Amino acid sequence: MAFTVAIDGPAASGKGTIARAVAAHFGFAHLDTGLLYRGVGFRVMQGEDPLTVAQNLVAEELENPDLRGAQVSQWASKVAVLPEVRAALLDFQRAFARRLGGAVLDGRDIGTVICPGAEAKLFVTASDATRAGRRHRELLRSDPEITFDTVLADLRERDRRDSERSAAPLVPAEDAVRIDTSDMSIEEAVAAAISAVAERQ
Ligand code: CDP
Repeated sequence: MAFTVAIDGPAASGKGTIARAVAAHFGFAHLDTGLLYRGVGFRVMQGEDPLTVAQNLVAEELENPDLRGAQVSQWASKVAVLPEVRAALLDFQRAFARRLGGAVLDGRDIGTVICPGAEAKLFVTASDATRAGRRHRELLRSDPEITFDTVLADLRERDRRDSERSAAPLVPAEDAVRIDTSDMSIEEAVAAAISAVAERQ
């Protein structure tokens, strides 16, 4: 049986953590779609052509830990503006979403463009300060010099670019359940997500 859970939201809102936990709980497969854009952004940053990279992405390169870096985040959101790049990544995401046994996809446009018919849709948010604090703690592990203010500015710039672009902008699907994780622990946020998905089963 196919069952798609679409989880969207702005940068570092907690959607990745929630998506992984929901997938583990229900025994569904999980796809972090941001990694696809990061994979493209990483190679475009080195001078390659965005569309050629998007058409030839291979799974192994998405395992590179460097894709999580702050500079790659910016390049990911720059290539994500290009409609031809988004189109090249569409079929793979849709096929993943309809695989037998259930799938959770997290990103920006899953409930609106990739899987408008998803059985369950969540839109995960958190305040700017909360999101920047979380991402700052993550990035400090690989970049001890990075400051909170740099991370906050990066998130705001990407949110603006992601929300204002004309191709698949970051906007909640009308039928998405909204979860604001600002004042929630991970356990509380995951529990809220699991109960919203369970209601749709
Ligand atoms: O982890 P974080 O929320 O910081 O970012 P991400 O989910 O890895 O996504 C990186 C960038 O890819 C975003 O800023 C978006 O520009 C783009 N993206 C997108 O356009 N559509 C998606 N479905 C997922 C990511």
